[in-house]
Amino acid sequence: MEERVISGEVSNYDERFEQSLRPQFLSQYIGQEKVKDNLGIFIEAAKGRSESLDHVLLYGPPGLGKTTLATVIANEMDVNVRMTSGPAIERPGDLAAVVSSLEPGDVLFIDEIHRLNRSIEEVLYPAMEDFCLDIVVGKGPSARSIRLDLPPFTLIGATTRAGALSAPLRDRFGVPLRLEYYEVLPLTEIVVRSAGLFEVEIDERAAREIARRARGTPRIANRLLRRVRDYAQVRGNGNITLEMAEEALEMLQVDSHGLDHIDHKLLTGMIERFRGGPVGIDTISASIGEESVTIEDVYEPYLLQIGFIQRTPRGRIATRLAYDHFGYVFPEENTH
Ligand SMILES: Nc1ncnc2c1ncn2[C@@H]1O[C@H](COP(=O)(O)OP(=O)(O)OP(=O)(O)O)[C@@H](O)[C@H]1O
Ligand SMILES: [Mg+2]
Repeated sequence: MEERVISGEVSNYDERFEQSLRPQFLSQYIGQEKVKDNLGIFIEAAKGRSESLDHVLLYGPPGLGKTTLATVIANEMDVNVRMTSGPAIERPGDLAAVVSSLEPGDVLFIDEIHRLNRSIEEVLYPAMEDFCLDIVVGKGPSARSIRLDLPPFTLIGATTRAGALSAPLRDRFGVPLRLEYYEVLPLTEIVVRSAGLFEVEIDERAAREIARRARGTPRIANRLLRRVRDYAQVRGNGNITLEMAEEALEMLQVDSHGLDHIDHKLLTGMIERFRGGPVGIDTISASIGEESVTIEDVYEPYLLQIGFIQRTPRGRIATRLAYDHFGYVFPEENTH
């Protein structure tokens, strides 16, 4: 799959910068007000009782701030965080090694928790519920199970696909929190904050323009900001004015809604070849030469979010908003 400047997934180019841009405390974490309100209360209550925080499940599309929030929670609780991921824990022993090194109250962060092996899940349940581990040592007839007591800890699981999580695992999280795509206002604030950290001057209107095209995603906003900064440095005097931002974004071929040529291909394909649908995902897939899972997991979520596509039992439809955006006349006999 080709790399897209408006992809929510992390790239090598992002990784060099992300750490320095991550907010450290709830007060610096912009947007997601509902999530912050909830967390603020749970954190204060847990601290008041000198207990560890209940297990937290963070879910939502890539780049919305799940990993960031895990670190923020640990900082607010004033504990250490150990980071690992579902695919990295291959055997029960790997999990045992991580959890047995935790201090009381620590946070264990498991990214991509939906990719955790089922056999590991089984070991995780008693760890989450009773803070103990049952591990089998030895092999064959001499194998026996030993019970290991753990300090109370907080498991924070993150996933982009909550639906792929097994129900028993999902049920063991006391605090499930869903991160939503960001509105333009908080995203603008994030752009201004990041520009400050980069020590670059940015016009408020330029920040808003970048935010508007960032698909509700802080990671994309920060990536676009870096591209615009480069452009302003080479073509201007380094300050990011609205004009500089618009030119740079034009060059990157990111349109006013943050759509790129792949979104264009997908939507104009639906409109021109299928009269806006309904059309099945496999038919779309064949007609534009992209895998259906890629369309469903990567291309479609944002288009659904902004209401350009709707899902119906008979397939996808392109809505009036999509017709208007690409300058097509909406066929009035279409009911959607
Ligand atoms: N609320 C926020 N305020 C300010 N910056 C944010 C916020 N949320 C995310 N960011 C920025 O966006 C970047 C991506 O966030 P993060 O890595 O936490 O996303 P994620 O949800 O864990 O993504 P993935 O699903 O790929 O793991 C971070 O470097 C951070 O700088
Ligand atoms: Mg992450």
